[in-house]
Amino acid sequence: MADLNDPTTDWWRHAVVYQVYVRSFADSDGDGIGDLPGITARLPHLADLGVDALWLTPFYTSPQHDHGYDVADYKDVDPLFGKLDDADDLIARAHELGLRVIVDVVPNHSSDEHEWFRAALAAEPGSPERARYLFRDSEDGNPPNNWESVFGGPAWTQVDDGQWYLHLFDSTQPDLDWRNPDVPEMFEGVLRFWLDRGVDGFRIDVAHGLFKEASLRDQVLREDEPAGSSHGRTDADSREPKEMVERDARDEPMWDQPEVHEVYRSWHRILDEAGPDRMAVAEAWTSTVESMAAYIRPDELDQTFNFAWLLAEWSAESFAEVITDTLASVESVDASPTWVLSNHDVTRHVTRYGGGEQGLARARAATLAMLALPGSSYLYQGEELGLEQVDVAPEDRQDPSYLRTGEVGRDGCRVPIPWGGTQAPYDFGPGSAQPWIPQPDDWAALTVEAQAADPTSTLAFYRDALRIRRDFAWTAGDKVDVLDLGQDVLAFRRGPLTVVLNCGTTPVELPEGEVLLASGPIDGTLPADTAAWLRA
Ligand code: GLC
Ligand code: MG
Repeated sequence: MADLNDPTTDWWRHAVVYQVYVRSFADSDGDGIGDLPGITARLPHLADLGVDALWLTPFYTSPQHDHGYDVADYKDVDPLFGKLDDADDLIARAHELGLRVIVDVVPNHSSDEHEWFRAALAAEPGSPERARYLFRDSEDGNPPNNWESVFGGPAWTQVDDGQWYLHLFDSTQPDLDWRNPDVPEMFEGVLRFWLDRGVDGFRIDVAHGLFKEASLRDQVLREDEPAGSSHGRTDADSREPKEMVERDARDEPMWDQPEVHEVYRSWHRILDEAGPDRMAVAEAWTSTVESMAAYIRPDELDQTFNFAWLLAEWSAESFAEVITDTLASVESVDASPTWVLSNHDVTRHVTRYGGGEQGLARARAATLAMLALPGSSYLYQGEELGLEQVDVAPEDRQDPSYLRTGEVGRDGCRVPIPWGGTQAPYDFGPGSAQPWIPQPDDWAALTVEAQAADPTSTLAFYRDALRIRRDFAWTAGDKVDVLDLGQDVLAFRRGPLTVVLNCGTTPVELPEGEVLLASGPIDGTLPADTAAWLRA
């Protein structure tokens, strides 16, 4: 385990980081919305689970059009979630429990209720206030270029005097102009503010955004290609593996511009000044593994989410390919790899793997393989309970991408966590009302309370895996040897550990060794949709 008291360790290099989606983790005040005191009270769950750190999604002042990813004040806490003191308490309590804290920073855009955007609207075209965003004129009454919002529809909105502003996401999330020196200066202050309050790192939202090609020229679209800013995807359900592969063919003047790297070099210096144990992880939907590695060069950010793992289809071949490619790319820049199966933007992996018993078996198996790999694993709240994507009723959907397009969005992975009891809100908060997204009525067996009492539960499985992982995470080395145990089997050796994942339909022989843990019942052989850790 990374020693929390040793400021010289790169604690993140082999950490398990648990993503807390603030609105949906735990509610302290009975308004049906999760909040910071709610999280603080539930931190023992994370300590018992055995994670090293938590990542909190944005809890800053925000009108909540994108549930906090539309920030109106980067240095304060939204009253929905508490006060600054509550953030301080959360950080202090987490540190007492040996947990590091990563917070989100959202630099690509602000909220339209940020004081800068209000001032921009009140000011004239061509004013310094407008120059902090991307306001443009258009000659023909159409938007200034053909870019589309990641959430659907045009990426431009017109204001009363006829100018348009760019928003790669919702119209309430105007993009900042990073070529304006006010913008980098403000964010340097934001980083310092939270570092001074004791946070251990940052998760950088849309890290490949920030700069757009200066001309703001049209995106050149192939004939068969839908318009739009793919951002790696358009919504949770359309994230097909092929999209990732084909993206390098896309023309994307809105993403991944070379100037962005200078920003991360300066952020690296700010993190270093705060101490050798502060880190940053990028959300960068880049088109190739090479461009991903550029974000984690030694003088830039520490890690970047490896969405290729999440996008891999259920096959030994595709898992092996992602492992090999990932390790090669991070090795080229001496960074540590990351792995992730779920987050607040994608369909939960139990459901992606088919749902039901088989989906859960596969999810547990893929998790076990992931947790054995060198580097960090990012877990998403509720996966330790085996939660599935919820089919949220149309009237309860609140994702701005749903509101813009009418297509099912990301609400189904954001349903509040069931902690105990037999009916909604399952101890998510006080009272008996449904929380902000209603919970299903069949979650009684999935609560933390119910699963804690059952040694075969998914929660017990995660606890076992994380406990055993501590014995090898820092000592088994960075080298992975992929073994050939047949076409349907992902197998690899890492130090003393052998990992086998059966993606086929029939049981396979286990290699020699003592079984440390399996993702499901085994009896001599390894059944389909099951993984095991062995020690030679
Ligand atoms: C990132 C966040 C997502 C948010 C978007 C805009 O992709 O993960 O939830 O909607 O950025 O900030
Ligand atoms: Mg609340």
